[in-house]
Amino acid sequence: MTEQLPHSPSPSPIGGLALVIGASGGIGAALLARLQLDDRFDRFDRVLGLSRHSQPALDLLDQASIAQAAAHVAGLGVPLRLLIDATGLLHGPGLQPEKSWQQLDPVQMAQAFAINAIGPALLMKHFLPLLPREGRSVFATLSAMVGSIGDNQLGGWYSYRASKAALNQLVRTAAIELRRRQPQALCVALHPGTVATNLSAPFAKTGLQVQTRDHAAARLLGVIEGLQAADSGGFFNHDGSVLPW
Ligand SMILES: NC(=O)c1ccc[n+]([C@@H]2O[C@H](COP(=O)([O-])OP(=O)(O)OC[C@H]3O[C@@H](n4cnc5c(N)ncnc54)[C@H](OP(=O)(O)O)[C@@H]3O)[C@@H](O)[C@H]2O)c1
Repeated sequence: MTEQLPHSPSPSPIGGLALVIGASGGIGAALLARLQLDDRFDRFDRVLGLSRHSQPALDLLDQASIAQAAAHVAGLGVPLRLLIDATGLLHGPGLQPEKSWQQLDPVQMAQAFAINAIGPALLMKHFLPLLPREGRSVFATLSAMVGSIGDNQLGGWYSYRASKAALNQLVRTAAIELRRRQPQALCVALHPGTVATNLSAPFAKTGLQVQTRDHAAARLLGVIEGLQAADSGGFFNHDGSVLPW
């Protein structure tokens, strides 16, 4: 059943390619499924998901794989109208969000920045030039509210927070360059809310409002639909509101 979305969407792009990068992740897979199946969003000629496990494979730590994936997309002959980057890293083997500066570790910090900031920047480098010069198109990357410096009241999670803050700055900077080249193209950062995925599972607290993956995907697509050209370079919550830097 289609969910009630918080927006009255403006006309969405008709035709072209919708691409989800990080399609193997909790939110990425839900976004891909929504784009493929939901009537409301079935407005693209083609929907494609890429990940480290897809063909072609895309690994954020391997720039050549990003360049090859971009060449593959360019070769499809379908204009790229929507790219959602749903990659990200909060924890993993040997990597836990820091509770104190005493836990800061340069290797773990570099890992967080490589996945959460440098990888998405390389996606911008290789995929933003593929956005058509004419007509609306959107590059949206999943950031996190905890990357907001203005909203930081709790501290902790140094590497994740700082790498997402860096991502937000990269989005803003790329949006300025993009506007000069493709005035109707948008580059934005989105906070998906707390969503039940592997990324959030170890930190789920009672009382915290946790969305299902599908609900989060529907809300994010609703926010993207509602964005106007002037919103490019912004940081948006999953209800469409503007988040502080
Ligand atoms: N879940 C939440 O509550 C929440 C809250 C705020 C923000 N976010 C943000 O939302 C985004 C998606 O999160 P999620 O909850 O869906 O996490 P997830 O289920 O852990 O998915 C993470 C995705 O990132 C991909 N990835 C990690 N390292 C990669 C690499 N080197 N190259 C290519 N892809 C790589 C993973 O691919 P593999 O399958 O290959 O590992 C996976 O597709 C992240 O940016 C996260 O920070 C999530």
